[in-house]
Amino acid sequence: MDHSRKLHVQTWGCQMNVHDSARMADALAPAGFGAAATAEEADLVILNTCHIREKAAEKLFSELGRLRRVQQARAAAGGRLILAVAGCVAQAEGEALLARAPFVDIVVGPQTYHRLPALLARAEASPGVPVLDTEFPAEDKFAHLPPPVAGAARVTAFLTIQEGCDKFCAFCVVPYTRGAESSRPAAAILEEARRLVAEGAREITLLGQNVNAWHGAGTDGRAWSLARLLEALAALPGLARLRYTTSHPRELTDDLIAAHRDIPALMPFLHLPVQSGSDRVLKAMNRGHDAAFYRGRIAALRAACPGIALSSDFIVGHPGETEADFAATLALVREIGFAQAFSFKYSPRPGTPAADAPEQVPEAEKERRLAELQALLRGQQAAFNQALVGRRVPVLVTGPGRHPGQLAARSPWLQPVHFPAPAALIGTETWVEITAAHPNSLAARIEERHAA
Ligand code: 5AD
Ligand code: SF4
Repeated sequence: MDHSRKLHVQTWGCQMNVHDSARMADALAPAGFGAAATAEEADLVILNTCHIREKAAEKLFSELGRLRRVQQARAAAGGRLILAVAGCVAQAEGEALLARAPFVDIVVGPQTYHRLPALLARAEASPGVPVLDTEFPAEDKFAHLPPPVAGAARVTAFLTIQEGCDKFCAFCVVPYTRGAESSRPAAAILEEARRLVAEGAREITLLGQNVNAWHGAGTDGRAWSLARLLEALAALPGLARLRYTTSHPRELTDDLIAAHRDIPALMPFLHLPVQSGSDRVLKAMNRGHDAAFYRGRIAALRAACPGIALSSDFIVGHPGETEADFAATLALVREIGFAQAFSFKYSPRPGTPAADAPEQVPEAEKERRLAELQALLRGQQAAFNQALVGRRVPVLVTGPGRHPGQLAARSPWLQPVHFPAPAALIGTETWVEITAAHPNSLAARIEERHAA
């Protein structure tokens, strides 16, 4: 393929953005774009942005300031660096972004990046006139994207099955930036999964902002749920492992819980955000469930799949959160025990109901609560990792490790695992004995019969 031009993509935010960035590169490959390691070496820079918290959005503007100088230096040398802003800040701020950063050439939302080659052609034809596309088009962008560049697939792959969110949690911008919930048809998902497996994927993570809200036309003409889709995917020869993220507790249905019992390929690890342990706060957040409901779902999951480990998201300092509410969150964390978690200070997002609520929690108080919650969660993660030392664990070998002779693998519970072994094992599942636990990874030793 002709790689006469260079593309540099910078990504912030969630796994959906990481995946979208790869697909944007795929969309531009036919136009002759190969990868550049830095903006300085690139003809086109795409910043794939996140709007979920204020800090993430602000990082974009400081990076744009830096890139503007690169762009000016390029122009002074007689060249051109095209700057594109994609993702959720592009979607949410569109025109306002161009007013603040008029040197940006292209603004493209998460639903229209399949049009990038056309947008680029327009930007190239009219220097100084920014091109903006933040529509929610009727067409399915996946149907308009070229298949990923062959050979780019990895042992672990992402597959987007659902996008958007209709839940409207009071604090969250996602329903505004990513639009209404929509599910891809099962046939298209199965076809993409088969292709990923043919290219070497052994583990597929199904992606969606509300992935367990997925429901679609099945290949048998019936309406399928996520549980039924997982069953069909698990039957694909060569596919060893399945995951899905991010889920909403309300849609953790009984059939999905049963899937964790019945489908061996479905890994015993679930990211299930709860946000708070206080019923008052959950109500103010418009989560549509209380703490007892969450506890009940976890109990059912553990009954169906005793080895399952859990991960969650938490927000501290949501408007109206009192010390007692925060204590309820700590109590829930202590009771459930999480293998891993993300926690954030509440960040008011323009246009969301919570941003205008009275009773905003002072910043210093949010800091204090976050530090306390994170200390508790870190301790639980360390204990979870430590408990694996000395145990035999089946890992999926994903590639070479950081040191020569070492391989990198992934545990059933999503932990990175490192051990010395021959590269021939890449792409296989193998048993190892865990020898040491670190905060975010595990060290292991391969079992004798494989080491030869
Ligand atoms: N402030 C802080 N955290 C937020 N999240 C979403 N919106 C906000 C906000 N306004 C967190 C939630 C969500 C995760 C992806 O980001 O915990 O689950
Ligand atoms: Fe945001 Fe709530 Fe939708 Fe998750 S479920 S994306 S937190 S609105």
